[in-house]
Amino acid sequence: MNERPGTRNSFSGKIGFVLAAAGSAVGLGNIWRFPYLAAKYGGGAFLLVYIILALSFGYTMIVAETAIGRMTRKSPIGAFRAHGNQKHFRAGGWLNAIVPMLIMPYYSVIGGWVCKYLFEYLRGGAAGLAADDYFGTFISNGASTEMWFLVFAALVLLIIFSGVRNGVERVSKISMPILIVLALVIAVYSMTRPGAMEGVKYLVIPNFENFSWMTVVSAMGQMFYSLSIAMGILITYGSYMKDDISIEGAAERVELFDTSIAILAGLMIIPAVFAFSGGDPNALQAGPSLMFITIPKVFANMGITTLVGILFFALVLLAALTSAVSLAESVAATFEDELGWSRKRATLCITAIMVGLGTLSSLGYGPLANITIFGMAFLDFFDFLSNSVMMPIAALASCIYIVRAVKIERIVEEVERDGAPFKRKKMFCFMIKYVCPIFVVIILISSIANVLGWITM
Ligand code: PHE
Repeated sequence: MNERPGTRNSFSGKIGFVLAAAGSAVGLGNIWRFPYLAAKYGGGAFLLVYIILALSFGYTMIVAETAIGRMTRKSPIGAFRAHGNQKHFRAGGWLNAIVPMLIMPYYSVIGGWVCKYLFEYLRGGAAGLAADDYFGTFISNGASTEMWFLVFAALVLLIIFSGVRNGVERVSKISMPILIVLALVIAVYSMTRPGAMEGVKYLVIPNFENFSWMTVVSAMGQMFYSLSIAMGILITYGSYMKDDISIEGAAERVELFDTSIAILAGLMIIPAVFAFSGGDPNALQAGPSLMFITIPKVFANMGITTLVGILFFALVLLAALTSAVSLAESVAATFEDELGWSRKRATLCITAIMVGLGTLSSLGYGPLANITIFGMAFLDFFDFLSNSVMMPIAALASCIYIVRAVKIERIVEEVERDGAPFKRKKMFCFMIKYVCPIFVVIILISSIANVLGWITM
């Protein structure tokens, strides 16, 4: 058995880990991205592919990352140095550590937009939000977006500063149950609108006309993003996990949580849009603007708009907050472990990264709109770079590191440390050795080809 590194800040128990990991997983990806992709790629067919991938590929990666974290008690860089310390493996650790640094600032900018919308609903400005071009005008107003970004960032930094148990764990424990209740309330409300059942059917009944290879590729990309895989987060959270907790059990719960919220989000949004648009699925193709443009219009049409708007955006805010916190926590752990910094110092440095990169993203549609990278505004560029390029490479690095350096048997040993046998061991070994690396390369190639315009997703 490998030696167990010493004391470390830890989650108080199983539920602490599960809620924190679920808090990281459930975010803007579930509420905004999932419904829109499901609508676009064949409804029930997308759902089916997504669930199969999550149970096989997603499961494998969650187990693998959590086990590496717990085994080494380190954040990504240290974890990738623990077995072998070869240069190319170290690079994998760095990638896993840098991805969250890049995502955290722009994710917080979107978090700021959510704060703004919640604030407007709270002060009774629902009609204004539903007006044409409200969103466009808002995001091009640099002063306003920057201010709301800083509000959201301050919340995240405060939680990080409080440490693992008082910060991440406490916030997740409070907000995750509230989030489920809110999601149920809104979904029931949305499904009971006249004409909404068509939307429910659209979401759950497979439509093979819309099914294509891209359904699989986009379901794969979505699964990655949604489960917060390959960003060093699960390695970091695994390092805070106690030995007697079942990694498999935790992975199952996180998946169940994440997928249920995604489906609930689909049930909140798609039926509402159907009811609003008189059954026209084209209204769903709104893509990125679905949540900020279409939804306020849909709510405005529904009668009790202010209350629903407040509930909806409060839910999105909680989801986005726990995800942003997980990103920042992973960065903080890297600074503490690698540079020996205190929590305070790590938080200060994170503040600098957050404000620096976040400001570029927040001003990118307004004052800095003429600066683009490969034709993308800053926010879109950071999103592309982290999710489409670096994340798949980081995941590939994890697979190779596990198979070549850590060795699969060590992972199995770690998973079985709680005393129970590894139930899906065979699947795990096959997936991590063969299927995951191939899938990851496919995502990488497809998403780059998509941005370069060779294929359309
Ligand atoms: N998984 C989160 C979501 O679904 C997004 C996220 C990405 C969170 C990266 C942390 C890290 O929105």
